[in-house]
Amino acid sequence: MGDEALDRAGELARDWLAGLEERRVGPAGAPSLGGPLPEAGESPAAVIEALAAGAEPGLVASSGPRYFGFVTGGTLPAALAADWLTSAWDQNTMLHSMSPAAAAAERAATEWCRELLGLPAGTAAGLCTGAQLANVTALAAARNAVLGRAGWDVEAQGLAGAPPVRVIAGAEAHATVFYALRLIGLGRDTAIRVPADDQGRMLAGALAEELARGDGPTIVCAQAGNVNTGAFDPFEPILAACRAHGAWCHVDGAFGLWAAAAPARAHLTAGAAGADSWAVDAHKWLNVPYDAALAFVADPAPLAAAMSLTAAYLTTAAGDERNGGDWSPEASRRARAFPLWAALRQLGRRGVAELVEGHCALAARIAERLAGEPGVAILNDVVLNQVLVRFGDDDAATDAVVARVQDEGTCWLGGTRWQGRAAMRISVSGWRTTAEDADRSAAAIAGAWRAVA
Ligand SMILES: Cc1ncc(COP(=O)(O)O)c(C=O)c1O
Repeated sequence: MGDEALDRAGELARDWLAGLEERRVGPAGAPSLGGPLPEAGESPAAVIEALAAGAEPGLVASSGPRYFGFVTGGTLPAALAADWLTSAWDQNTMLHSMSPAAAAAERAATEWCRELLGLPAGTAAGLCTGAQLANVTALAAARNAVLGRAGWDVEAQGLAGAPPVRVIAGAEAHATVFYALRLIGLGRDTAIRVPADDQGRMLAGALAEELARGDGPTIVCAQAGNVNTGAFDPFEPILAACRAHGAWCHVDGAFGLWAAAAPARAHLTAGAAGADSWAVDAHKWLNVPYDAALAFVADPAPLAAAMSLTAAYLTTAAGDERNGGDWSPEASRRARAFPLWAALRQLGRRGVAELVEGHCALAARIAERLAGEPGVAILNDVVLNQVLVRFGDDDAATDAVVARVQDEGTCWLGGTRWQGRAAMRISVSGWRTTAEDADRSAAAIAGAWRAVA
């Protein structure tokens, strides 16, 4: 039962992948998936046909070679195929006993990631849906640890009556850090914001001054890879200040932490391995299909204390076994370690380094092409895979170029505001992007600017 549907889905998937190179990058029109739920069910194959037809106009070629929006990775072939198997196998990774295979993949893949990122041996990892949830997970562990040191068991007692927790973040910290603080009860607006420089790097001297102004349970949120500029906070002085004041240091490294895996970029992350926790995506720069991210915590105890769940009918993990549910917020969940494992095996250590380095080179190439156009300014130091572009030194012109590029369809990218000024954001993160795609896209952007100017 269902063979026909699987065959058809396979064909449709192959057609989609084959069309990614040349298809219009943005959506072509409105999807059509609404209407009343039919009274009678349909055959699996008919359902797949209807889903594909209804979704088609609203699909975005975001895993194609000329999608530079947000920070969006593609899907490596081995990871995609493994993702199909993940659905067919339908394993639950909450408990080792539910799927020793999923547990083994999770153990191996998280350990490979830890090694690639240069994090300390013994660091614990939880698999989450994205860096937002990885920030939630790691910061919940941080909350447990800093309050634990103050004699407060936050898991048992909650936050009412707890010693105050001081949270310090850079002025250009990512929005999801504040979302995480909101979700774990520390409050979105209570974080102290330390000034950042023109690239968005937290000023370590200002952090040290801020840390010296108070005491008690403290969490510092640093960043590897600013979502606009790609810049890295200076981890060595940040960590030194945190150690001097007994503060927990968390690093949001959603995409930027992968620089540690590329020898020519690893200097950008110098010192980051000395932090207490890290959040990093797999579905961005590692090109694993949505959704996959990792929360790492150097000391496994507060992560387990914050995330594990017990009940009489749930089995515990013994010895080398791994209950995935002990390390991340979900109980039942998809075995997202299989595609992660497959992506890492397809790339190998060298392939990860080449992927990261290659994207950085392509970002620099696009920046160089655009910088040669009169009236175009590159706003950031292109140290990673992110490029910020401004046109005519004018907000309206810049917004108009972004809209025109999106409409024209050769490539897709978005806009942002960087330190009060409109900018185009280009993020090179997909494995399919070639130098030719970079040049074609730069030409399309330059053409849009000439039409607007
Ligand atoms: C620095 C940083 N942190 C967190 C996130 C959130 O990641 P996700 O959307 O995978 O949850 C992003 C997304 O771009 C990011 O750039």
